Amino acid sequence: MFNVGSATRSKESMTMGTEPIVRARQGWFQERFARTALDYPVPARANRLDFMLGALTMVALTLLAVTGSVLILYYNPTPLGAHDSVQYLITGAPLVALLRDLHVWGASAALILVFAHLAAVFWRRGFRRPREGLWWTGVILLALLFGLAFTGTVLRADQEAVEALAHATAGAGFAGPLAAPLRPDFTPSTPLLSRLYGLHIAVLPLALVALMSLHLWLIRHLGVSARDDVRVPFRTHLRPLAAFALILTAVAAALALAFPGELLAAGVGGYELTKPFWPFLWIYAAENLFGMAGMLLAPGVLFGFLALVPVADRKDGLAARATRVAGVALFVLMLAAIAYAALAPAQSHLGMEM
Ligand code: HEM
Repeated sequence: MFNVGSATRSKESMTMGTEPIVRARQGWFQERFARTALDYPVPARANRLDFMLGALTMVALTLLAVTGSVLILYYNPTPLGAHDSVQYLITGAPLVALLRDLHVWGASAALILVFAHLAAVFWRRGFRRPREGLWWTGVILLALLFGLAFTGTVLRADQEAVEALAHATAGAGFAGPLAAPLRPDFTPSTPLLSRLYGLHIAVLPLALVALMSLHLWLIRHLGVSARDDVRVPFRTHLRPLAAFALILTAVAAALALAFPGELLAAGVGGYELTKPFWPFLWIYAAENLFGMAGMLLAPGVLFGFLALVPVADRKDGLAARATRVAGVALFVLMLAAIAYAALAPAQSHLGMEM
C-alpha cells in the first residue's frame, strides 16, 4: 500500500503542466477512496427509471433523516410539551417549519416510491430464485416504513395523533405481548408518547439501516434481475440517479412550500373526529367494514400475501399466473380502499363520541 503511494508520488513529481497534475490527483483519490470499486458491471437496462425506484426510496429516506435531525432539536417528547413545541416551530421558527413540511412530504414520497418499487419488482418477478431473501428483507423494510409513518404522526400530539394512538392501543390489545410497549401501562416510568419518540428516532431507524444494508448487500452479490447482455460500469448509474434525486427533492420542496403540513388543535381523548395519515386509509376502510378486527385483518392479508409471493411464484405456470392476478387485485383494492376512505365521512370505530 505504502509502496504504491510512493510510486504515484514519484510519477507526480516527474509531470509538468496542469493536465498531468489533475490526473495524478484523481489517482490519489481513487487510491484512497476506492472509487474504482464503483466500476463493477451492471446490466445497461438497470439505468432505467423502473430499476431506480429502490434507490430513489433511499433518497427520500435520506431527506427524512436530514430534516428529522433538525426537528429533534426543537421537539419536546413529553405529553404536555409535544404539541406546543410543534406549534412553536410552525409560528416562531419559519426555516425549521419548512424543514418540518419537507419531512412530512418526504414521508409521503418514501411510501409512494417504496410501493412503486415493490410493484415494479413484483411485475418483473425480481423475487424469483435466488432473490427470495432480497424480497423478504424488502417486506420487513416496508413494515418498518409503516412503523415510522405511524410513530411520526403520533408525535404531533394533535387530535389526529391522539385518535391514531387510541386505535393502536386498542389494536395492541388484540396483538398480544408483541405489542405490549404500545400499551400505556407498559411501564409507569415513561409516558407512551416518549416511548414512541424513542421508537421513531432510534429503534426503527436503526432497524431500517440494518435491514437496508442487508438488502443492498444482497443486491451487490446477487445482482439485479434485468435481462440484458450489455453491461456498463455501475458508476454510469449514478448520473441519471442524481438527476432523478434532484427532481425528487425539488418536487418535495415545492410541495412543502405550497402545502405546509397541518397541525390540528391539541388532542383530546374520547373523541373520533379525524381520519389517519393517507398511507393508513386502506386500514381505516377495513375498520369501516369489519370494525376493529379490520385493523389487523387488512395488514395481515397484505403482509401475508407479500411473504408468500416467492413461494407461490417460483416458475411459469398456473400458480405464477394466479399470484400475479392476486397481486394486481390486491393493489387495485388498496388504492380503491384509500380513495373510499378519503371520501367517506369519518366513522367511529372505538365507540367514542364523534
Ligand atoms: C426502504 C425500502 C427499500 C429500499 C431502500 C430498497 C432498495 C433497493 C434497491 C436500491 C434495489 C436495486 C435496484 C432496483 O431494482 O430498484 C432494490 C432491489 C430489490 N428490492 Fe428493494 N428496497 C426497498 C424496499 C423493498 C420492498 C418493500 C421490496 C419487496 C417487498 C423489495 C424487494 C426488492 C427486490 C426483490 C429487489 C431485486 C429486484 C430485481 O433484481 O429485479 N425492496 N431495492
